[in-house]
This record gives sequence, structure tokens and C-alpha cells, in this order.
Amino acid sequence: MTPTRILQIGYGAFGATHLDAWARLLPAEAIMVADPRPDARTAAAARRPGIVAVADWRDGLASAEAVDILTPTDTHHAIAAEAIDRGRHVFLEKPMTADAAEARDLQARAGRAGVVVQGGLYFRFHPKARALRDIVRAGGIGRLRFLQGRFAGFKRARGDSGALLNDAVHFVDLFGWITGERAETVHAVTRDHFGRGSEDLALVTLTYPSGVVAHVETGYVQPGRWPDTVVPGAVTSKEIKVSGSEGAVEIDFAAETMVRHRVRHEFSGGLWRPVFGAGGPMAVPGADPVAVVEAELAHFLDCIRTGREPDAGLAECGVGLALVLDAARRSAADATVTKVGP
Ligand SMILES: NC(=O)c1ccc[n+]([C@@H]2O[C@H](COP(=O)([O-])OP(=O)(O)OC[C@H]3O[C@@H](n4cnc5c(N)ncnc54)[C@H](O)[C@@H]3O)[C@@H](O)[C@H]2O)c1
Repeated sequence: MTPTRILQIGYGAFGATHLDAWARLLPAEAIMVADPRPDARTAAAARRPGIVAVADWRDGLASAEAVDILTPTDTHHAIAAEAIDRGRHVFLEKPMTADAAEARDLQARAGRAGVVVQGGLYFRFHPKARALRDIVRAGGIGRLRFLQGRFAGFKRARGDSGALLNDAVHFVDLFGWITGERAETVHAVTRDHFGRGSEDLALVTLTYPSGVVAHVETGYVQPGRWPDTVVPGAVTSKEIKVSGSEGAVEIDFAAETMVRHRVRHEFSGGLWRPVFGAGGPMAVPGADPVAVVEAELAHFLDCIRTGREPDAGLAECGVGLALVLDAARRSAADATVTKVGP
């Protein structure tokens, strides 16, 4: 059954993007927004006349079948736990929880309540990432070897989390989704230059059971290349390179470019030399943030309707992802390569 009403909890920097996406899926009367800040409620009501805006999310819960949580990370677990226990389906922005223990707790509650819980793992729903995954799954770049991601640039450091939870989470998840594996070891190096108690630079190297290696660079202390589409005033890069035995694909999510390389190494004249085939730019449609969030939320509604497990559910994007990030924190603290916990 399609929810007759949804409650968006939080209307901060990402609030308008979610509200615009909901407005493409549901009529205004079916949308409520909760935020304790009066200016946030005024802004939401002005953007979508006809919606209901409340200060306390519990006041909106009585008449909503599903909630969309986009509040600071340190509030995610408490709000999600209460909404689940009251039988509401939950869309929970990344990072779903602060750690794996919180994610396991939500998983147990969701099992008891029989509700759908989906994480806001944006890049899984980006058309270019989906096209790349299709190429990889079809063997289009051969056997995977190395995945590189850069999610970095000069931007404000959020108060609720560091670069691991806030930024590395995106590509650590994306790389697990592309490889179809959970990382088994992590080596993370982090720095807290601002002295605020969480990292503003995080460099993460992951190995997977198949032998594939990945590296994710995140941080706020190095240059990016493009005005950020989500964070006003920030200049960031969001790009990945995925390489295999038969080629590679590069995506620049900000520039909306996707390039395919067809190349393999052959042994000749005593050396391993690259042999190039025809590659070049790929024509995969772009997607603005509202369109990507709309795709995520449409999937959420479909899972509620059909009862199927969401792509970006609690098992992979809650517990599984948090186990990798927990291991990254331990690795950084101990300056060692760390095994991802079971
Ligand atoms: N998927 C993505 O690409 C993406 C992009 C940006 C943000 N996010 C995630 O979305 C979430 C929100 O990010 P943001 O940048 O909008 O944060 P923000 O700090 O700008 O806004 C958070 C809002 O939540 C409100 N809030 C706090 N406690 C609340 C409560 N108990 N009930 C209702 N509202 C409450 C605050 O008043 C504020 O308006 C974070 O988890 C963040 O990681 C995801």
C-alpha cells in the first residue's frame, strides 16, 4: 500500500532537495515536514504550499505511515528507533547510524515491527554509477583490480561527524555495491587539523576477499574542482575510477562525465605493455540531485508497496557499511591494517 502521508524529519541543507523529490512523487497534502527551527518550517512551507510543517516530529507521526529522516547523524538512531517501534517505514539518510551496534539494534527492531528501512545511499541511484555497475557485472572491464574514489574539497566541516562517516561512507558503500563484496581489511589514516574531535582528512585503503583493492580519499583541507551541488560555497570533487584486466571506467559525478578505457596488458618483447582498444566518452544521461533522490524515494515507496527488501537496506548499508567504517576508525587509532568485524 502506498503511504497516504509521509513525514520528512529535518529541513536543513539537504531539506529542499528531499522536499522537491517528494513533491514529484506525492501531492502536497500527503507531505509533512518537521523541524524545530521556525525559519526552516517557514522555508519549507513557502517552497511547497499545501504541506504541513510541525516543530516536533512526534506530532506529525500520528498521521504518517512513513518517515524520511535527514537530521544530524547523532540523532539518527534515536529517531529511527522510535519511528520503527511505532510501526513506521523509515528512509534514513547516510550515514544510517554512528556505528554497527546502533545499526544492529535498528535491524532487530525493524524485524520485529515488519517495516521497510532504507538508507540514503545516493550514488547507488545515480544513472552513471548504475551504468558502471552494469558494465562491471557484464565483464566489460574484465576482472576487477583497483577502485579509486575522491570525495574531497574545501568545504565546511559538519558538527555531527567527521570525513569518514560523512564522506567516505559514500564511496565505501559504492565500491562494495560495485564489487558485490564487503571489504575484509581496512587501513585508514586520518587527521584532525581543526582539533574538533573528528577527522577532516581520511585516507582509506580497502581489500576485498577476491583480492580487489580500493582507495577512498576524503577531506576538507585539499582542493576540489567544482562548486558543490549540495553544500553552498564548497568546491569539491566527487570522482571514481574503476579498473580491471580489460579496461577502466572513470566517472566525474560533478562534471557529469563518464569515460571508458579499453586496454589490457600483453607480454611482448620481454615487457608487459598496454594494448589499447577504442574507448572514449560514454553518453549516459546526467541527473541532478533532486532526480537522484526522487529515484531513491520511489524505490522506498515501491518496497513499502511490495514488501521487498530495499537495495540500500539495513543489512548492507546499515550493519555492513558501519562494520567497515568502525574498522577504519580502529585502524586510524591503532595505525594498523585492521580486519573488518563479522
Ligand atoms: N546523500 C547525500 O548526498 C547527502 C547530502 C547531504 C546531507 N546528507 C545527510 O542528510 C542528513 C542531514 O544533512 P543536512 O546537511 O541537511 O543537515 P543540517 O545540519 O543542515 O540540517 C539538519 C536539520 O535537522 C533539524 N533537526 C535537528 N534535530 C531534529 C529533530 N529532532 N527533529 C526534526 N528536525 C531536527 C535541524 O534543525 C536542521 O534544520 C545528514 O545525515 C547528512 O549526512 C546526505
